[in-house]
Amino acid sequence: MNVREAIAQRRSVKKFVDRPVSRTQLLRLLDAAVLAPNHRLTQPWRFYALGPQARRAYGEVLGGRKARKVEDPAAAALVRAKVADEHAALPAMIVVAVREDPDPEVREEDLAAVMMAVENLLLAALEDGLGTHIKTGAVMQDPAARAAVGVAADERIVAVVNVGVAEQPGPPAKPRIPASELTRWTE
Ligand SMILES: Cc1cc2nc3c(=O)[nH]c(=O)nc-3n(C[C@H](O)[C@H](O)[C@H](O)COP(=O)(O)O)c2cc1C
Repeated sequence: MNVREAIAQRRSVKKFVDRPVSRTQLLRLLDAAVLAPNHRLTQPWRFYALGPQARRAYGEVLGGRKARKVEDPAAAALVRAKVADEHAALPAMIVVAVREDPDPEVREEDLAAVMMAVENLLLAALEDGLGTHIKTGAVMQDPAARAAVGVAADERIVAVVNVGVAEQPGPPAKPRIPASELTRWTE
């Protein structure tokens, strides 16, 4: 598979088959991630590969946040349990964090670099026959979610990437505005 094929075939995968992803498989993806460009070679990315207990704990926090919007207490408890179960059942979940530099300019560059590392990871996964789904959200800054991950005090969680063998081939690509319509050529 060449790079363009990987870019074209990548999809956010919502359902995975019930097959674990090994540490070796994940490390291959992370080794691709850390090759991303990064200004001043700050290498600001940090990764947390969560096991089932930590995934459940993270899912409980996320589920608890979703449950707050549900009025009926029994239904809210079900929401929390469902989200926790779904997370525990994921084949693999990598929490991506950025080391927070005190300088705002470096912080911005570092965030950009980490997201480039994430794209490397997603494309490398595809080549290895694995599907991925990047997720974000306010939950990432929730102290309880941070505790579930065990993220270091000087790091900020910036993405969660679910990884596994996709249950079914990806749907057609969601339409994008052609680049030609979004590009202004200057002399
Ligand atoms: C920074 C970022 C954050 C995202 N956060 C979420 C998320 O919280 N939940 C979700 O379902 N998808 C999330 N996505 C995935 C997008 O919804 C998805 O990429 C988009 O719908 C296009 O679909 P595709 O990835 O299959 O091309 C995120 C993607 C990016 C790049």
